[in-house]
Amino acid sequence: MLPEGVAIDPLTGAMSSSTGEYSKRLSEFRGVYRDSAALEKMLAERGDIETYRVVEHRQPGSDIFFGTTTMAPGKVGYEYFMTRGHYHERRDRGEIYYTQSGSGLLLLQSRQGDVRTVEMKPGTCAFIPPDWAHRSVNTGSATLVFVWCCNQDAGHDYAEIAARGMRQLVLDRNGSVTLAPNPNY
Ligand code: F6R
Ligand code: ZN
Repeated sequence: MLPEGVAIDPLTGAMSSSTGEYSKRLSEFRGVYRDSAALEKMLAERGDIETYRVVEHRQPGSDIFFGTTTMAPGKVGYEYFMTRGHYHERRDRGEIYYTQSGSGLLLLQSRQGDVRTVEMKPGTCAFIPPDWAHRSVNTGSATLVFVWCCNQDAGHDYAEIAARGMRQLVLDRNGSVTLAPNPNY
């Protein structure tokens, strides 16, 4: 393994050297956003648009790795575009999210039911403690780009958030970003 400097475009999340990437599309979020009719309408009007993309840089054998997540602005009904949200498989593994451009909200919840949010804005580095579920929400009108870094062995556990969502919803209420309790809890 050798040291390396990777250039990251703060507006697109593109990295000068990467080892993998994937994107998530609107149709994969059926049942995730609450307003199913709004989701189907958007699919019919705009097609299966990409709502976010993840690029990673992983050196085999290293303990840590990093990458970018680039999220389009938008809403399904009153809900802002968001990531799936997950716990890490390993409960002793945290993460950091460093926002480079755009604005958003990082939703966090512990297994015990504590909820927290951290504002995502350029220059802010969010600390995600071990065993806190995390979901990013793009609450702005621009693309949201953040760099994340965690242990390669952290893993993802999507099941609980996929089943019920996060405890808090992030909604546009008359133009302001508003948190509302998720009725599934
Ligand atoms: C890795 C991590 C990020 C997210 C990415 C997409 O542990 O937290 O790389 O995986 O922002 O979010 P999810 O995976 O929740 O769809
Ligand atoms: Zn994570």
